[in-house]
Amino acid sequence: MAEELFRAARMAMKRAYAPYSQFPVGAALRTDAGAVHAGCNIENASYPEGWCAETTALGQMIMAGGGKVSEIALVAEKMPGIMPCGGCRQRLSEFVTADAKLHLCDMNGILETVPFSSVFPRAFGSESNT
Ligand code: THU
Repeated sequence: MAEELFRAARMAMKRAYAPYSQFPVGAALRTDAGAVHAGCNIENASYPEGWCAETTALGQMIMAGGGKVSEIALVAEKMPGIMPCGGCRQRLSEFVTADAKLHLCDMNGILETVPFSSVFPRAFGSESNT
């Protein structure tokens, strides 16, 4: 259930490597097959080389065999209700189901659930690229 996904995101946030921004983020994805994959942001001394929690979670999902993302939970202790950045919306959109849900969280749980499509309408997809 959604609360379990939130807890996976919060646990992932604890693993964040964010010494430069001091802004730990955790993300957790559930696939349509029911698997949960989580990730944290991983920064770098060469700042632009760091990446987001959602991107780590997608890497985990692909390495575990892939799938379609039906639910996403995102949490950052310093920003209740954090939204995925633009780049991560594009990366997530590659793998989401049409009715994928995005859970916006604080450290205590889910604050709001919105359709992923509502935060990334008219996405650039592979059908735009043929
Ligand atoms: N960050 C994420 O992990 N996900 C987002 O959607 C927004 C930003 C990270 C990147 C960087 O390590 C830190 O938050 C500050 O921008």
